[in-house]
Amino acid sequence: MSIFGRKEKETATVIYVSPAGDAREIAVPVGDSVMEGAIKHGVNGIVAECGGACMCATCHVYVDETFLNRLDPMDATEDEMLTCTVSPRRPNSRLSCQIRVTQELAGLIVRLPETQV
Ligand code: FES
Repeated sequence: MSIFGRKEKETATVIYVSPAGDAREIAVPVGDSVMEGAIKHGVNGIVAECGGACMCATCHVYVDETFLNRLDPMDATEDEMLTCTVSPRRPNSRLSCQIRVTQELAGLIVRLPETQV
């Protein structure tokens, strides 16, 4: 609760790691996507040209393997879009606009690819 009586938005930490290895820890509101957390905080390396509509693949990330089984499975559209990434697709590739932040994902680590476009 803030001093104005408004309920603070619940957040969970997401750690974005640049290709050089620099990590940024960001408290992302639960319910927002991992992409939105990056865009709202100016994380370099997430472009998100389509704004989260799963139509551009410029929000590609590599999810730390320890979190993979906590994510919802990808749908066919995301799977197809991941064939269009500029940096190589890997087994842990996901589109960050399709990952909703939850408390279960607190501490999520995503590594950013070398390039998105
Ligand atoms: Fe375009 Fe994720 S923002 S596919």
